[in-house]
Amino acid sequence: MRNETNTSLTAAQKDLLNKKLDPETTVLKSYSSKRNKVYLIGNRSGKGPFYILKEFAGSKPLKRKEKEIKFLKILKNSDLLSPGILHEEGKSILIEYIKGPDLLEIFERSETDSEFNNMFVLLKKACALIKYFNLYSLRSLGKAHIFYDINLKNFILAKDGLYRIDLESCIPGRIEKDLGRFIAYILTYNPVFTSYKERIARSLIDHLATQTGRLDINEVLKEIKEELLDIQARRRLKVDLYRLFTKIEKTITP
Ligand SMILES: Nc1ncnc2c1ncn2[C@@H]1O[C@H](COP(=O)(O)OP(=O)(O)O)[C@@H](O)[C@H]1O
Ligand SMILES: [Mg+2]
Repeated sequence: MRNETNTSLTAAQKDLLNKKLDPETTVLKSYSSKRNKVYLIGNRSGKGPFYILKEFAGSKPLKRKEKEIKFLKILKNSDLLSPGILHEEGKSILIEYIKGPDLLEIFERSETDSEFNNMFVLLKKACALIKYFNLYSLRSLGKAHIFYDINLKNFILAKDGLYRIDLESCIPGRIEKDLGRFIAYILTYNPVFTSYKERIARSLIDHLATQTGRLDINEVLKEIKEELLDIQARRRLKVDLYRLFTKIEKTITP
């Protein structure tokens, strides 16, 4: 881990850290983030304990920060795993660091290694987590919510289980949307629609279709296609993602 000076922190952030942590605390790493500033914080020796400092930037940072705090607390009260909040101030929160690879790293590695079984088990766990959150939020808030930002990077596999981070995009919604978007994301990490990704997606759809409960698999398929159209437009891709998916869909009989 590389040691850096904490010059990239604002005065308010340094103040926050000095109040909360030992004076040897510094920025050890800066994460790439489109909207926010996210840092790994720890002793300059590079030894633990580590923390995550997330400063909300871009539009409505305070509102997004409040939402992240609200849902981190909700997850903490549930059976789901999420980082604890250590401190909040201004546009920043200081949260527990969760050690482990994220689902995208694991997914890319398993595709390279052509490893299917463990990956499939892990993705089924992520689907169960997504479903549980939807149900738990219905019970605790009176309205079912989805994560919406379903990027595989927002799931971390730690020693004690699968954690969910990054809750600022949670919105009321139906479970089929999160699951459909999850599968659309899986299919479109680069390179898109490889035979490995198609096999994973088909297996996940089959798995969801056989589950009992309030899941409408046709709606999941509709959400996958909707998200694929959005991804196609967002990335200005030449390949027709929608058509690629309809080929898979034909081989599925819900
Ligand atoms: N509690 C945490 N433990 C470990 N890593 C984290 C934690 N929170 C954030 N990260 C890392 O920082 C990255 C960006 O943080 P995130 O909350 O997802 O914000 P955003 O996606 O808006 O940039 C994550 O993808 C992850 O790599
Ligand atoms: Mg994120």
